[in-house]
Amino acid sequence: MMPVRLGPLLLAHPIINASGTMEILDLAEVLGPDVLSVPPVAAYVPKTITMDARTGNPAPRILETPGGMINAIGLEGEGLKGFVADRLPRLLALPCPLIISIGGFSLDEYVGLAAGLREALEAALGDGWTAKAGLELNISCPNVHSGCVSIGSNPAETELVVGAVRKIWPGLLIAKLTPNVTDITAIARAAEAAGADAVAAVNTYKGLVIDRKTLRPYLGNVTGGLSGPAIKPLALRAVYELYETVGIPIVGMGGVATARDVLEFMACGAAAVAVGSAAFRDPSVGASLAVDLWDELTARGTSVADVVGVAHRPV
Ligand SMILES: Cc1cc2nc3c(=O)[nH]c(=O)nc-3n(C[C@H](O)[C@H](O)[C@H](O)COP(=O)(O)O)c2cc1C
Repeated sequence: MMPVRLGPLLLAHPIINASGTMEILDLAEVLGPDVLSVPPVAAYVPKTITMDARTGNPAPRILETPGGMINAIGLEGEGLKGFVADRLPRLLALPCPLIISIGGFSLDEYVGLAAGLREALEAALGDGWTAKAGLELNISCPNVHSGCVSIGSNPAETELVVGAVRKIWPGLLIAKLTPNVTDITAIARAAEAAGADAVAAVNTYKGLVIDRKTLRPYLGNVTGGLSGPAIKPLALRAVYELYETVGIPIVGMGGVATARDVLEFMACGAAAVAVGSAAFRDPSVGASLAVDLWDELTARGTSVADVVGVAHRPV
């Protein structure tokens, strides 16, 4: 109906989830196993995994804000070994592609994570694994104090990390970009030059909230990442600028809650669109977005291919 190609992965439609905002295996325990046989997204992106298990940042780590939310989870998770043994086999059973998000604290960690996942995927699926699973390099988490976002804030380091992973990863390779830089297009150019198949934009905007009682920072980490409708115009600008800069597909995200939001990201140049914070209100929002997008396109007598980048064309 609305297929989208990202590198070697074919998605049935353009709606995916944003990493860290929908844990589909946990959801299945609450909503029942149907969510696993009919996932609400065209490709599933788990929360970023790291080399070692991490407990994340001190509480409090999340708060609703006007028009959005702020979080400072700090990449909590079971680490590569735990992921491969525990969740990967169950996620590979999903009837849609899997885009595994990884976050490292050094170049070696990114390469080690990619190598470990490649080995596990080859063992599970054989040669055909690149049609089932891709990689998203989270070089943009604002809530950890080394590696990750400092790599993704620097074009030269971005090129080194993406290039090193590219050498050992034949599957889909997405670089997820931070908006907390002066010029996001410089980072995207570096990722493209190093062989990324696509860029994803944006991760959260670094922010801070004050506890009204104590007048001190509310979050245990002091700062956090802002997401939700409040950031949509900022994210649209990022996608618009990226479309003018790189030739590879863009996965757009930031404040998507309705099919009209999806259309706006596509008009700016996104080939696929991820929904994040909105899934906290409605975990199946991805499925309704895909249906509503189809209705919107039909009502306008247009198609995904015609809409992507239309905002750049003269009226
Ligand atoms: C609670 C929470 C956790 C997140 N965890 C991750 C993560 O692990 N990896 C990542 O790349 N992005 C993470 N993000 C960022 C989202 O993937 C997305 O880029 C951002 O929230 C913007 O989309 P939205 O406005 O639709 O939420 C997280 C966001 C939230 C709200």
